[in-house]
Amino acid sequence: MPAQLRSQRLNRAIHAPHQQLDALVKSYTPFDSREHFAHFVVAQYRFQRALQPLYRDPRLVALIPDLAERCRAQQAADDLIDLGMEIPPAEADTLGDLPVAAALGWLFVSEGSKLGAAFLIKRAAALGLSESFGARHLGEPAGGRAEGWKRFTRMLDGLALSEHEDTLAEHAAGAAFERFTVLLRQAYAHTAPA
Ligand code: HEM
Repeated sequence: MPAQLRSQRLNRAIHAPHQQLDALVKSYTPFDSREHFAHFVVAQYRFQRALQPLYRDPRLVALIPDLAERCRAQQAADDLIDLGMEIPPAEADTLGDLPVAAALGWLFVSEGSKLGAAFLIKRAAALGLSESFGARHLGEPAGGRAEGWKRFTRMLDGLALSEHEDTLAEHAAGAAFERFTVLLRQAYAHTAPA
């Protein structure tokens, strides 16, 4: 049997954390009102801001030429403005200086989350939000969601990584889910308990 592709192994590794995060997101009922949704966007913004150094990292841009345009920090910031929220201040805790393999694990989660975003933006539409107002960061990426994801995973699957590097990538994907979970809890901390 051929060894599984790296993207398939990562998909398997994130299955349980993804299910948990999906359930947590839903428990906060982000689509009940614009106000509920705005807290979700705060978490998305802080996550994208933390990842910004990776989206600009020349070592990674060499692997994914359109990487810088894939970052959604600006769209999330614009969404916050649309929703009347303050932009959270810059944080020291961004991701810099990671080994390439670990950076790819974080990017796998950020890029993969654009797939679920296809479902989320439909729900946001019921609140009068769209990819040009309030839900920009959930919008269809240039060239399409499926195509963008395919190009990312094709690159990932084509890389020669050591076993150690594969482990780093997997752990980083787990860390990305943990980070998003923390950001989500913080974003909803002062709202009614989930
Ligand atoms: C920060 C990371 C992520 C968050 C917050 C997130 C959130 C969500 C949520 C809330 C849904 C449910 C949408 C609905 O039912 O209305 C969903 C669905 C989905 N997500 Fe994610 N996701 C993340 C990362 C990923 C990653 C890394 C992948 C793939 C590698 C992925 C792939 C999908 C797919 C394909 C769906 C569609 C339904 C399904 O198969 O479960 N997501 N996501």
